[in-house]
Amino acid sequence: MKSEKMKSVVEVHICNYKRDGDECCFDKGAKELTDKLKKWAKGETDKQVRVFRSGCLGKCSEGIAMACYPQKKMFTEIAEDDYKEIKKMLEETLEENKKGP
Ligand code: FES
Repeated sequence: MKSEKMKSVVEVHICNYKRDGDECCFDKGAKELTDKLKKWAKGETDKQVRVFRSGCLGKCSEGIAMACYPQKKMFTEIAEDDYKEIKKMLEETLEENKKGP
């Protein structure tokens, strides 16, 4: 087994599950939101924020759903245009992390 230290401080898992004929995050704009956040994280956070597409997080009727670590918080009822608010929250988390415990 090999291991290496990871650069990421924050990990965001956004449900991109698509369910034919039933309510799902994909149909509410999860892909577009994930694409925007991935682009921002890759370009501006030096890999300190990692954005992942996840499967169903069990909040289908409340989606778009997003799990955030290390905060251990689940966000629901996210709209595609919440992008700026999410980005701001992640930037604040990075700033807090710089200060240390
Ligand atoms: S489809 Fe997104 S939480 Fe189930």
